[in-house]
Order: sequence, then structure tokens, then C-alpha cells
Amino acid sequence: MNCVILGSGKGSNAEAILKAWNQQFLGNTKIKAILSDKPDAQILKVADSFGIPARHINMDQDSAYISSEESKTLFEIINEYSPNLIVLAGFMKILPVNFIDKFKGQIINIHPSLLPSFKGLNAIKRAFDHGVKITGCTVHMVTEKIDDGKIIAQAPVRVMETDSLESVTQKIQAAEHVLLPTVIAKISQEYSHHTE
Ligand code: GRF
Repeated sequence: MNCVILGSGKGSNAEAILKAWNQQFLGNTKIKAILSDKPDAQILKVADSFGIPARHINMDQDSAYISSEESKTLFEIINEYSPNLIVLAGFMKILPVNFIDKFKGQIINIHPSLLPSFKGLNAIKRAFDHGVKITGCTVHMVTEKIDDGKIIAQAPVRVMETDSLESVTQKIQAAEHVLLPTVIAKISQEYSHHTE
């Protein structure tokens, strides 16, 4: 199963995926490339350190949206890797509908809340400020609606009296680093059964 990871940030989820992959935990998954809209994103360095092709895709830094021109380039580059699975791991751009349609059912995202609560940006802080006692992270299918696709897996994180926003963030990220590789391993297993 060919897998391409997209991200814009520090790449801790990508690193967790690559570690799991190194430990043969992801079945027959091949991590083909890591792509980022940010030229100096740490996620590209993570890819480098694991010897995975790391590519910056030029996109307007002032918009959350991807133009049709940018989308065409993104599609062409991703297609070079014939992906069966596209993993959004902290990718901060909103994918255009026609792009999502081209890879229907093949794009997953990790979000730092228990969806459908706290969709969108700053989810951890909004949940914490709201006083939730249980939060967590969700891996879901990507559809044209933001953070709205079918939920694949979730991990709960308890918020204690003694927790701060920082400690909750750490706990959620630690949970993400287990959940996302686990989901990829499961998808890869299902993929193998279908293609056998
Ligand atoms: C994660 O918390 C993820 O849930 C959100 O963006 C963050 C990415 O972190 N979508 P990293 O770049 O994987 O460290």
C-alpha cells in the first residue's frame, strides 16, 4: 500500500508513523513521500532523517485554501507516487473538493479533539477553555466538509484538575502518535486482504 503524508508543521505524527514503519508495524505500507506547503516545515526534515523523499509544494502562504492551479500541481506530484492512502498529519490547507473526489475514500486526517466536538482550528484550547473533562483525538475520512468525515478511530484523554493547556496538549499528542500508526496498520492490513 503506497502512502503519502501531507503536513505543514513540526511533523511529530509523521515521525511516529515513520518509527512504526521502521519497526515493521505498518504491514506492507510503503511511505513514498512527505509533502508540505511550508518550505521550512520541520516535517520535511523528519522525512529527510528517515530517507523519505521530502517535497515542498509552493502554495500561497496567506490563504487557507488551495487555488485550482496549486491543486493541479499537488495532484500531479501526489500522483507520481500512486498513493492508495493519503495521510493528512497537521496539513493546514483545505483540500479542494475535486482533489478529494479524485482520491475518494483514500484520504484520512488526524484531529486533536473527540469529533464531532471542536472541529476546526485551536481545537485543544477551545475544548480546554470549555472545561471538558474528557477530550482526545480522532482519525477520520476526509470529505469536502472540514473535520466531518466518517470517524475511523478515537483515543480519549482525561483532563485532570491539575492539567494545564500544555499538559493536555502533550497528552493528546502522545495519544495521536499511537492512534495514527495503528489506523494506518489496520488500513494496510485491509488493503492486503483486498488485493491478495
Ligand atoms: C496534530 O495535533 C494534529 O492533530 C493536528 O495538527 C497537529 C500536527 O502536529 N491536525 P505534528 O505536525 O504532527 O507534530
